[in-house]
Amino acid sequence: MRISAVADAIAGPATLKLNEKANQLKADGKPVIHLGSGEPKAPVPQAATDAARVKLDSAVVRYSPTSGSPDLKKEVVEYTRRNYRYECSPANVLISSGAKPAIFFALYSVVQPGDEVVFPAPYWVSYPEMARMLGGVPVVVAPEPGTFEPSFESFAAAVTDRTRAMIINSPNNPSGHVYSAALIKDLVRLCEERDICLIMDDIYHKLVFDGREAPSAFDFARRTGEDSVIVAVNGVSKLYAMTGFRIGWAVASKRMINVMKNVQAQILSCPSSLAEAAALGALEGDQGCVESLRSTLQANRDVMVGELSKIPGVKLNAPGGTFYSLPDFSAIDANSHRLCEFLVEKVMVVTVPGKDFGAEGHLRFSYCGSAREIIEGVERVRWALDPNGPRQITIGSTTFTRDW
Ligand SMILES: Cc1ncc(COP(=O)(O)O)c(C=O)c1O
Repeated sequence: MRISAVADAIAGPATLKLNEKANQLKADGKPVIHLGSGEPKAPVPQAATDAARVKLDSAVVRYSPTSGSPDLKKEVVEYTRRNYRYECSPANVLISSGAKPAIFFALYSVVQPGDEVVFPAPYWVSYPEMARMLGGVPVVVAPEPGTFEPSFESFAAAVTDRTRAMIINSPNNPSGHVYSAALIKDLVRLCEERDICLIMDDIYHKLVFDGREAPSAFDFARRTGEDSVIVAVNGVSKLYAMTGFRIGWAVASKRMINVMKNVQAQILSCPSSLAEAAALGALEGDQGCVESLRSTLQANRDVMVGELSKIPGVKLNAPGGTFYSLPDFSAIDANSHRLCEFLVEKVMVVTVPGKDFGAEGHLRFSYCGSAREIIEGVERVRWALDPNGPRQITIGSTTFTRDW
């Protein structure tokens, strides 16, 4: 059987190989520390599990309407008003099976073969692959040296007559960077003037630190309602630690939502009504869980930044949100895949190579685990990379002996 060249060229997840190795080490009883993870470790909010239980006990778990349950869409309208000060109606909402398909369906709705999709580096690994799956051309905008933010001029220079979509993820996976209000404002203007669909991937938008907020594209929009070019994507995966429920959504013009709905109808039929019940429970329930997760992550961020700063040669821009940091290891090893493999092999610490995010020379360190994991994990890395360190060391309850 012949595999399609487009499908065959799609990259697998960056973490796959490293995870396989880490799982093998774990299965062998080895003390692996996983700093590569992409999901919060908090429990699912009680209101979500209660709501899911009620739905399950009803023994009626059928197809939802294609664009999602009316109750959840209404709650998303409320969420959008509360968090974005943006008025919309259920007809502006598509509930999907996670933020990921919502992004893909938005791209599918505007990108034709040869069209360009613009986004800044470092970027979430799925953006270039999604663009390619549609026959589109990913166009990456490089950040200003030593920062994670490109200039507006670089974006403007990347836009051509073939640009159909721009994707901004703020705060950003993998860097934790929160893009400036000035940049977001200028990008909204650019997309409005050039009729470019602006996909705001806001999946981490409340996980922002130090009393800041992630600037919202809606605050700067001149084109609103049916004229809006913004597709705001969000979901319960990260804010409510509900990655396994697979519920996300998009807010956009009715016309755009209608097209996305038809795409979704042919691929997913609808989101899971059981998972929708849980998501509704989370959104209607006590929101203290989001703040509690945010403040835990901020404390973890401080620990991570402190520990990474002890590694000579490593440069880091402190993350303003998310649960990721993206230190620059290029002074030690400019090849991030080689360095990641070395760290798993020698000290059993899992990180993610920056190359896959368009940031070669960097490694992504997650801080969604415990402070102990962060401290021990980074101490192992520091020792492994220190040519003058002791030949043998005990970190936590594990003893390592240098054989390199
Ligand atoms: C930037 C970004 N967008 C979207 C997603 C996907 O979210 P979901 O799990 O709701 O599909 C992720 C998950 O890692 C992400 O990091």
